[in-house]
Amino acid sequence: MRTHYCGATKDASIGETVTICGWVDRRRDHGGVIFLDMRDREGIVQVVFDPDTKEYFELADRVRSEYVLQITGRVRERAPETVNPAMATGHIEVLGKELVILNEAAPPPFPLDAHQTVGEDVRLRYRFMDLRRESMQQNLMTRSRITSTIRQYLETAGFLDIETPVLTRATPEGARDYLVPSRTNASKFFALPQSPQLFKQLLMVSGFDRYYQIARCFRDEDLRADRQPEFTQIDVEMSFTDELEVMQLTEGMVRALFQTHLNVDLGDFPQMTWHEAMERFGSDKPDLRIDLELVSVDDLMADVEFKVFSGPANDPKGRVAALRVPGGATISRKEIDDLTKYISAYGARGLAWIKVNDKASGVSGLQSPILKFMPESTIHDLVERLDLEDGDIVFFGADKRQIVNDSLGALRLKVAAMTDRVREGWAPLWVVDFPMFEETSSGGLTAIHHPFTAPSCSAEALKAAPENALSRAYDMVLNGSEVGGGSIRIHRQEMQKAVFDILGISEEEADAKFGFLLSALKHGAPPHGGLAFGLDRLVMLMVGGQSIRDVIAFPKTQSAQCVMTDAPGEVSEQQLRELSIRLRAPDK
Ligand code: AMO
Ligand code: AMP
Repeated sequence: MRTHYCGATKDASIGETVTICGWVDRRRDHGGVIFLDMRDREGIVQVVFDPDTKEYFELADRVRSEYVLQITGRVRERAPETVNPAMATGHIEVLGKELVILNEAAPPPFPLDAHQTVGEDVRLRYRFMDLRRESMQQNLMTRSRITSTIRQYLETAGFLDIETPVLTRATPEGARDYLVPSRTNASKFFALPQSPQLFKQLLMVSGFDRYYQIARCFRDEDLRADRQPEFTQIDVEMSFTDELEVMQLTEGMVRALFQTHLNVDLGDFPQMTWHEAMERFGSDKPDLRIDLELVSVDDLMADVEFKVFSGPANDPKGRVAALRVPGGATISRKEIDDLTKYISAYGARGLAWIKVNDKASGVSGLQSPILKFMPESTIHDLVERLDLEDGDIVFFGADKRQIVNDSLGALRLKVAAMTDRVREGWAPLWVVDFPMFEETSSGGLTAIHHPFTAPSCSAEALKAAPENALSRAYDMVLNGSEVGGGSIRIHRQEMQKAVFDILGISEEEADAKFGFLLSALKHGAPPHGGLAFGLDRLVMLMVGGQSIRDVIAFPKTQSAQCVMTDAPGEVSEQQLRELSIRLRAPDK
């Protein structure tokens, strides 16, 4: 039906007759001449109809925004004064000769160029329109090119693309499962995979050596800008390998992506231990574009009369830390109150601070609600330790270690954004040496990665002091976002059983849930390991999106719904009956 994309008419020769198909982006009537900006995925071109072609001129006069047209015309140079350098096709236009209205269009529910003024719910309801916007078209085309580069990279490295089931059993990755009732097995449910984790491990046991899959994963968890209930992983697994090889290979993949699509050289990624990341940045995914750091001051606060500080300073599970913000003394009381409220979401019970107005005049040059609780020598030591200068503000967190890390870690990001301290560019890193386990609120242990991650110690050492064990896991972090994570896996049955035992999973439960894995580990499992990237997050970062919804064609809303198709929806009594399901009123 066409010879050129609208956006590709720039490549046609002057005088060439072209046929284009697309949507009317804009129609203007200029003193007896009609201009139609015609749009398709490759861009926009201006078409001119003049009254010489009477029949088509009248048709062109009738068309409205978003009509679908086929136009044949001649490419011509624009007059110098009408050249539009902002448009890729701005030096030419098409002189329309013929026009076919392929379809009319109702008035758009929102003007595409005014999408920011309409709520996201409206845009998601009319997603098929929203996706016509140039930035969405670019994002999805870039995403397609990125997955293509990934496939090429992995296939060149000998990886096989193997699909794994979507109707399966629970795969524990820490979220709730999406369940699918079975008609043929009454009262039984499939779970949608939170990841292909167990299947990819089984493929290693089967000898498929290097596997990859661009796999859809499903997690019923609280949504945020970088989380969707269904999302896509670039899932990778290899046998006869170690962490160095997995990290080099996947780092090479990300480097290739950035080189190919952004012309950016990410260089070698630095590594940081989990412990260091938590100490310095209060986060296991530190944004290294920000030069603010947490500094521990427990030793200085152990004997102060301010119980809020001395308590955690003397508690082995507590922490007192400071965050110095150079030039931050301009932050107002109102802003400090807002920040205090902000970090209360992370469990912080307050936010103490000191402003340095005039360092030379000692304590009287400082301003703070907590100085009265501290001896002058402590204040002096603090000023030294934190290297305070005039114009600084220091914030303090004192509580259980995790609360301090979470809240000051979040404060660090917030204050950096507020004071414009996030440098431009890219800051990738690997976070390594994660602990195997963390404590749950009920006092038990839970796996920080997943229960199939190998510890870096022997089974005996693991059993003796599980809370001290480190894992062979690694996360790839980019600009403060966890873009990928993986580990070397347990490939011996005894070790897997030891981990289940530590997690409080009884032998019966382990057999019932993971019997197939334990059996596979007994039948010749090679050493293996891998990693999964969050494709949506990676693409979001690469296109500079604000949310992964910007790079997913049909995402869910904050409440995990698709407002366009109205999913999830109700089902008929008949369907429920076939599934042996009777509904009950939702819990209050
Ligand atoms: P993990 O749970 O860390 O590891 O997931 C891997 C990566 O997937 C992305 N991700 C998400 N993206 C969007 N929405 C979500 N709800 C979401 N949850 C996770 C993140 C994350 O780094 N099986 C292991 C991998 C392995 O060990 O090989 C796994 O799934 O970018
Ligand atoms: P108060 O004596 O309770 O008014 O607290 C004095 C200062 O300490 C206030 O600025 C509080 O915001 C702050 N504060 C209270 N609890 C904490 C805490 N756990 N960590 C850090 N600062 C705190």
